[in-house]
Amino acid sequence: MQKVKVVQFGIGGWGWHFFENALATWPDSDYAYEGAIDPNARQSPIYDKLLQLGIPVYESPEAFYSEHQADLAVITASLPAHCPMTLLALSHGSNVLCEKPAAGTLHDVDLMLEAAQKAGRFVAINFNRCYAPASVNAKRDFLAGKFGRPKRFRIRSICGRDDSYYFRNYWSSRILDINGEVVLDSVLCNGTSHELQHALFMQGARLDAAACPVAFRADLLRANPIETFDTCVLDARTDAGAEVLCYVTHATDYTEFPVYDYEYENACLRYNRGVWGDDLIAFMKDGSVIHYGEAFPDGTRTMKLCARAILNKTQPVCGLKASRVHVLTINALADYAHVSGFPACDIKRDEAKKATTVPGLGEKMVQCYDDCCLLSDKGYYALKPAEWTDISAYSGYLGGRF
Ligand SMILES: NC(=O)c1ccc[n+]([C@@H]2O[C@H](COP(=O)([O-])OP(=O)(O)OC[C@H]3O[C@@H](n4cnc5c(N)ncnc54)[C@H](O)[C@@H]3O)[C@@H](O)[C@H]2O)c1
Repeated sequence: MQKVKVVQFGIGGWGWHFFENALATWPDSDYAYEGAIDPNARQSPIYDKLLQLGIPVYESPEAFYSEHQADLAVITASLPAHCPMTLLALSHGSNVLCEKPAAGTLHDVDLMLEAAQKAGRFVAINFNRCYAPASVNAKRDFLAGKFGRPKRFRIRSICGRDDSYYFRNYWSSRILDINGEVVLDSVLCNGTSHELQHALFMQGARLDAAACPVAFRADLLRANPIETFDTCVLDARTDAGAEVLCYVTHATDYTEFPVYDYEYENACLRYNRGVWGDDLIAFMKDGSVIHYGEAFPDGTRTMKLCARAILNKTQPVCGLKASRVHVLTINALADYAHVSGFPACDIKRDEAKKATTVPGLGEKMVQCYDDCCLLSDKGYYALKPAEWTDISAYSGYLGGRF
């Protein structure tokens, strides 16, 4: 069987885990690794294993492409590399599967879109939950009119992180990386981006489209000494006429699985692992229930889907156009929203665990989730009432810094 030739950009950090997972499913897949690229390749824990497997490792893309060709470039490199490496891979004729978020700015996403069109190749963004058959089948039912109009979509992700997360590289939780590139990295840009993207994707007007926020109000907070925010409650209106309420934080000392609650006119689509296991379920107004199945596939599954898309000459469902709305939201927050510090009396520093958290925050987020309101609506953390901002004409990052 013909196999799709894959090159992976970035084999440290997340790229290392990605490679390990991908190799574990090898060799009975539609793809075969042609090589790996990382300027710091020798520091990767997987470097020796790749050499043992005979997978060539290069320190630059130019060196790789001078000797090889790849049908698919998987970009698990640092966020500031997403746009330049995508452009480079496209220019060498590769399709691209790029990690989320697509890029730091809308301007970069648009450059990537233009380059993909010119090259006649696809760029898929690895919001892996959007590609899950459960999500795709539920979305097909929505598009067929089964659920009715989207009304209110709530998402929650309480996902505790310690210092090793914020200070692991040169771009995490920064506005600009150390080279001055705009990254606007935050809890919503990265760790919990899947949740926002999924909510927007599941109300998109086509299978490969996502709804776009047209107005928002938000509480953005930080407990950690970072440039952006580690806690966000966002209330957004979308061009699909729905409300998205998003509750995400890293400033807790525990993690719970994300919870999704999507209300449509005639159905409620829900995911809550603690209650129903790993199953996306539609509770229909007429009392019937539809089980869509596994909602959280591992990230490498998207690579298999992309390989199949290349073989079958189809397009992955969550490409740059659908993922653009996530970057648009992150950019608009930077331009129009304000980040508050948690009051010092609410912050706890644990030197042994190297973690800065806000005890009780998780419970307050759950309460606000249940009551469909912001932290500021309840007067928590001395927050000023959040005001609505119209972003229906927003077209790109203006240089705001929260
Ligand atoms: N899908 C998920 O669930 C998930 C989880 C974690 C991280 N991620 C994403 O994966 C990406 C990498 O995250 P990270 O925390 O490992 O980042 P990182 O910056 O800590 O490490 C990335 C690796 O990329 C390499 N790299 C940098 N520039 C490169 C280039 N031009 N070409 C090739 N390699 C290059 C670095 O040397 C490093 O080994 C980010 O986009 C992140 O958002 C996704």
